[in-house]
Amino acid sequence: MQRDSDAAGRTSTLSSAQDVARAAQLLRAGKLVAFPTETVYGLGGDAENAAAVRAIFAAKGRPADHPVIVHISDASHLDLWARNIPPAARALAAAFWPGPLTLVLPRSGRAGDWVTGGQDTVGLRSPAHPLARALLAAFGGALAAPSANRYGHVSPTDAAHVRDELGDAVAMVLDGGACPLGIESTIVGFSDGSPMLLRPGSISAAQIENVAGPLVTADGTGVAKPRVPGSVARHYAPRTPAELVESAVLLPRVAALVAKGMSIGVLALVPPPGVGANDTAAGARWIACGANAQDYARGLYRALRSLDAKGLDRIVIEMPPQTTEWLAVRDRLGRAAQVLADE
Ligand code: TXA
Ligand code: MG
Repeated sequence: MQRDSDAAGRTSTLSSAQDVARAAQLLRAGKLVAFPTETVYGLGGDAENAAAVRAIFAAKGRPADHPVIVHISDASHLDLWARNIPPAARALAAAFWPGPLTLVLPRSGRAGDWVTGGQDTVGLRSPAHPLARALLAAFGGALAAPSANRYGHVSPTDAAHVRDELGDAVAMVLDGGACPLGIESTIVGFSDGSPMLLRPGSISAAQIENVAGPLVTADGTGVAKPRVPGSVARHYAPRTPAELVESAVLLPRVAALVAKGMSIGVLALVPPPGVGANDTAAGARWIACGANAQDYARGLYRALRSLDAKGLDRIVIEMPPQTTEWLAVRDRLGRAAQVLADE
């Protein structure tokens, strides 16, 4: 049995092949199993079992008309779940599956209203994480799995987050340690066969365009407006009020709030001069997630959860650079933060 230790020094016992076999049995019995993927942990149930999928929605407190992603073992299952599949979608599956890419496609008869939220499309993804792949192989079918968090809250990136948040609602949590990517998959839909970016993720817009041609937008305005919960403005959010500020004003803003007697957490790229990555400076609790977008994404949700657990008055988040490699992180931060009246 392997051990894994996280940034906080906690150790967890990683799940074994026997655990995967037991998880597959639970899924066949209509129970819910949380499992790691390369992006975030998913809350899985048999995608063909309406009652199991309803239990996922109940555990998350999620509105019933929101679609969930169906996780499949590989691209050979595309035609089971979708029809009229554009060549660009097949090319993307061939290039990026298994991996952090979700394709939204016209649904087949197998994709019931319980996974599509009543829409005529289905979201499909073949995850790359070895435990997710082992679970899909042992189960044999497809797994409906949204991120394993309460609706609107921060996605879980380790097994302890899932247990803390969902408790007994989940029959079993497979433990794969910390998720290697840390933010949710890139979601691509199609309009007349051309790809549309519905949610940015680790697979970049440029990577999608290299394989599938130019990205289009739903209404020609340059802004996609998909019916997805990730596009609800406040989503991926901590419970503590959070604000996003430009790097240049980070230190003075923190100082001003601390001077008002507020307890402040800071989520920055790098620590302030002379301070460690997880330290206190200018009277505020700092977490530095890194100046590299991939490292930052990996640690982002853990950092938000950690600051959220401290019962602070406010989290001040440093805006990352306006470059394309930060697009997915900026998207998540924009949803985590609220516009706050300046007290
Ligand atoms: O990385 C991920 O995608 C993770 C892991 C567990 O695979 N899953 C995830 O699921 O983030 P969830 O449910 O938290 O977010 C999935 C997004 C939602 O915004 C949902 O509305 C959208 O995918 N989605 C799913 N099916 C869709 C469909 N038919 N049409 C449009 N959007 C869809
Ligand atoms: Mg989610």
